[in-house]
Amino acid sequence: MRVEIVKDYGKLSRKAARFVAGLVEINPQVAMGLPTGSTPLGLYEELVDIHQEDDLDFSYVKIFDLDEYVGLSRDHSRSYYNYLQENFVKKVNLKSRNTYFLDGKAPDKKEECKKYEEKILKAGGLDLVILGIGRNGHIGFNEPAEELLARTHQVELASQTIEANARFFESEDEVPQEALTMGIGTILNADQVLLIANGNSKAPAIERLFSGKISTKFPASLLHTHPAVTVMIDQEAAERI
Ligand code: PGA
Repeated sequence: MRVEIVKDYGKLSRKAARFVAGLVEINPQVAMGLPTGSTPLGLYEELVDIHQEDDLDFSYVKIFDLDEYVGLSRDHSRSYYNYLQENFVKKVNLKSRNTYFLDGKAPDKKEECKKYEEKILKAGGLDLVILGIGRNGHIGFNEPAEELLARTHQVELASQTIEANARFFESEDEVPQEALTMGIGTILNADQVLLIANGNSKAPAIERLFSGKISTKFPASLLHTHPAVTVMIDQEAAERI
């Protein structure tokens, strides 16, 4: 696991964007798993800038969202579909046929998850997965548990996650209780992983990530089993390591 510590959120976003842009330049058909949340907003802004100013071409790039709330339709303002459309997809030249999203309203969630795995396989697997990290160590929506599921599945959100994500909704009651998420195996199958984190609220999670222990009770720790993980964090997130 390679760690890169940068001064602040602006630098983190720029460095992460240059990392992603570098991969797109080397392989214009790169397939990426993409996160939502507050952390990657700056990364998406920077990628849009690189697209506009330096003509970074996304027309052959494939993207797969990491997760989606169960019960939210795609046009719901808080759906991850909507987040990725508004913050990234619509602002670059991604082709809609190359963008893949989990449907939180799919009538048969098991089938939806199975189909998603098949789509990833058909794309030749993921070249890169970009991750944030939850304060409880979740990646995607793989919440701490006795056992983790390898493949895309439906999951009950941890109370800490519901609490943390309440800021995006009118109230905590409105946060969906369940989600669909890529599994830990789906993530670990990617050729490369980039995990980004900023701010002192993430410092305890980053400390635990580097505790040297691997546990399903702290899902991000499973990334230690992957040969090509880059962790990019700002100084605040790094303050305990
Ligand atoms: P955040 O979420 O970027 O909004 O902090 C990260 C996560 O929960 O994975």
